[in-house]
Amino acid sequence: MQTHKLKIGTIELPSNLFMAPLAGYTNYAFRKQCYKYGAALAFPEMMNARGFLYNPKGTAELLHTEEEEKVKAVQLFGKDPDLLRRVAESETLSYVDLIDINMGCPMPKIYKNGEGSALLNDIRLAEKILREVKKSGKLLSVKYRIGVDSSRLVTVDFAKMCEQVGVNMITIHGRTRDQVYAGEVNFDEIARAKQAVNIPVVANGGVFDEASAEKLLNETGADGIMLARGALYNPQLFAILTGRETDSKKEMILEQLEDTSRLFSPHFTVVFMRKMVAFYIKGMYDNVKYKERLFATQTKEELISLVEEIFSDR
Ligand SMILES: Cc1cc2nc3c(=O)[nH]c(=O)nc-3n(C[C@H](O)[C@H](O)[C@H](O)COP(=O)(O)O)c2cc1C
Repeated sequence: MQTHKLKIGTIELPSNLFMAPLAGYTNYAFRKQCYKYGAALAFPEMMNARGFLYNPKGTAELLHTEEEEKVKAVQLFGKDPDLLRRVAESETLSYVDLIDINMGCPMPKIYKNGEGSALLNDIRLAEKILREVKKSGKLLSVKYRIGVDSSRLVTVDFAKMCEQVGVNMITIHGRTRDQVYAGEVNFDEIARAKQAVNIPVVANGGVFDEASAEKLLNETGADGIMLARGALYNPQLFAILTGRETDSKKEMILEQLEDTSRLFSPHFTVVFMRKMVAFYIKGMYDNVKYKERLFATQTKEELISLVEEIFSDR
């Protein structure tokens, strides 16, 4: 598909394809694969702003990045404008170029606490948060949903508010909080927001192949698109969209496994990579026969030898 460079504030990205933050998944080892196949910017998972005060070490581990990652981004969630600004200005985040604020998370625990998608109910507080974080001087983006339910769509109002505050980019997940991750993506709402503002608008939701990527981009008129589950199940989707060469799935898995084990504990590596390998072999006609053995692996070495076996005749 046709991609193009995209400017966010002072930064020019090589393309308009983004990788979404995915809690529990988008660590550096995974993001590295996304970049290799053509993502312009990949977000680490959302971080609780309060976590920076109570567990700075754990937070820093989750935010691990390396030189190859050209633009350093983080996504924060929270509802306290002053706390969010302090985190944005903190030493821990001094390396960061872009701060994204989560205003879309539907999880009951977060919503009930007034965070994530709950902010869609309170545009004044959302604005206050953004005005405070903007003071950090970093590039600022927001990822939000079109509303909490279909009777309260806030897409355009939020887009205009963000532009007024000086937000550098918005990403709109074209579903309501009620829809969680299922159901139709509302292209029209994203298109209306795109028409209403002059800052870059990135569309998100339901991209699983080239056809759905083109549809999301064309029907919304957005400046870029953000992949989420489609790339989680297959990071090589970025290569399909950009026309890049891919290495084999086996090489991709082994590289990600090495990076994960370099960055995280042996236990985390095995538990995490079992899940990833299950995603990556999903489409294979005989994947079922490996599933039980995959989830029984206990060490990196066992995982490697199973991966070698799975891909031995492919
Ligand atoms: C497992 C999982 C974790 C997610 N974690 C985050 C997150 O940390 N921050 C965020 O803004 N969205 C998060 N999302 C939402 C995605 O970024 C994306 O908006 C959503 O999956 C819709 O895109 P898709 O239909 O292409 O998957 C998560 C979604 C899933 C399935």
